[in-house]
Amino acid sequence: MDNLSVDHLTGILDLTRQDIELIFKTADSFKEVINRPIKKVPSLRDITIANLFFENSTRTRLSFEMAEKRLSADVVNFSAASSSVKKGETLIDTVNNILSMKVDMVVMRHPNPGAAKFLSERVDAKVVNAGDGTHEHPTQALLDAFTIREKLGSVEGKKVVIVGDILHSRVALSNIYCLQKLGAEVMVCGPTTLIPKYIHELGVKVEHNLRTALEWCDVANMLRIQLERQDIKYFPSLREYSMQFGLTKEILDSLEKEIVVMHPGPINRGVEITSDVADSKQSVILQQVENGVAVRMAVIYLLASKIERQ
Ligand code: CP
Repeated sequence: MDNLSVDHLTGILDLTRQDIELIFKTADSFKEVINRPIKKVPSLRDITIANLFFENSTRTRLSFEMAEKRLSADVVNFSAASSSVKKGETLIDTVNNILSMKVDMVVMRHPNPGAAKFLSERVDAKVVNAGDGTHEHPTQALLDAFTIREKLGSVEGKKVVIVGDILHSRVALSNIYCLQKLGAEVMVCGPTTLIPKYIHELGVKVEHNLRTALEWCDVANMLRIQLERQDIKYFPSLREYSMQFGLTKEILDSLEKEIVVMHPGPINRGVEITSDVADSKQSVILQQVENGVAVRMAVIYLLASKIERQ
């Protein structure tokens, strides 16, 4: 059986193009499974997975849990807000206590960049990064690229613009790595203050005018402004940001071609995207969420196949 070149999924940077294509091929089969009347396979009946969320999440947490249950794994959920982390327990102590309960795989979201990698080097379980601070969100990038492939036939040669708060976005960084590995051209667009200075080293185009960016692209991925990670003001007001970088139906309809509109969620309607765009036929936001389950099933299934079973 083909398998991944990695033992953990801590970031897209570690994956090869073949890894990503294998994840997509496996996700194609699982997408078929989750659209059947019986949406479950028995593949991981002997595997226990812990979902450790040290940061808020709606989509990613539910999507991983759904993916694990569709594969028939046993699932335990941990949320830092209601745990002994509040009493001063360290990450490693918390995780080792959970692993003593015979857990085979850990899916972790954590506010610190590098937390998933740190953990993967210290525990026996497989580790999947569900978002580590401003660093990477690999499964989001995989489901985004899988959705582009589904919608446009392939990712190779497509032009994708990522709009908004690039500076604080793990989704942007993982998307850049993933799209480039699959042969897409990537542009970032936003206010100068929200584009990191190192961005040119990543081989992406930079544009500060939304209309110019939209005229160039096949796909626009609209990101949320991450106010919770901004300790200083990066632009005068949300209203001004939305006037310059918000995607409206008026701009979309004025383009000479039909572009695909994506958003990783959560959406701030009326800021980075208006409601009529979010709910338009050009938007694939809910397809992204559906594909997230199939892609996460694929990642978990492929990593679990590397676990030695008795
Ligand atoms: N896209 C995403 O990561 O959403 P959540 O923060 O709700 O998990």
